[in-house]
Amino acid sequence: MTKKLGVAAIIMVFMVVTIGVAMAEGKGNARKGKYLFRKSCRTCHIEDGSAKDLSPVSKTQADWQIIFDNTSKLQCKEEWEKLSEKDILDIHAHLWGHAFDSPSPAKCK
Ligand code: HEC
Repeated sequence: MTKKLGVAAIIMVFMVVTIGVAMAEGKGNARKGKYLFRKSCRTCHIEDGSAKDLSPVSKTQADWQIIFDNTSKLQCKEEWEKLSEKDILDIHAHLWGHAFDSPSPAKCK
């Protein structure tokens, strides 16, 4: 009886961890996003670059959300079209996760 409960507990923990990891992946990987943002966006969006300097803190979470929901309206939409859906999710995790009004605002160096 006790053994059965132990097995059930292990299965429960395993399921919770698996679901947690799956959900975290669904939201995108902020660390990868930081790298992708630097590689695919900061080429232009940098001080003295061809477009205005952008960092996660340049906008609020609500602002970033509007941008990600309407990328086809951006002047650089061709640049976004080169990225996979996963890349965009990762960049979203970085920008939205470190936005001006987020718990951990971040600026690009
Ligand atoms: C080839 C250069 C180039 C690349 C690469 C590029 N952009 Fe842009 N982007 C522009 C230009 C030019 C504009 C319009 C002028 C401006 O806002 O500076 C613009 C506009 C924007 C705007 C609207 C401006 C604002 O403040 O609301 C956002 C947001 C943006 N880009 C985000 C991104 C992101 C995120 C990436 C990477 C996925 C990216 N851009 C890649 C050139 C680029």
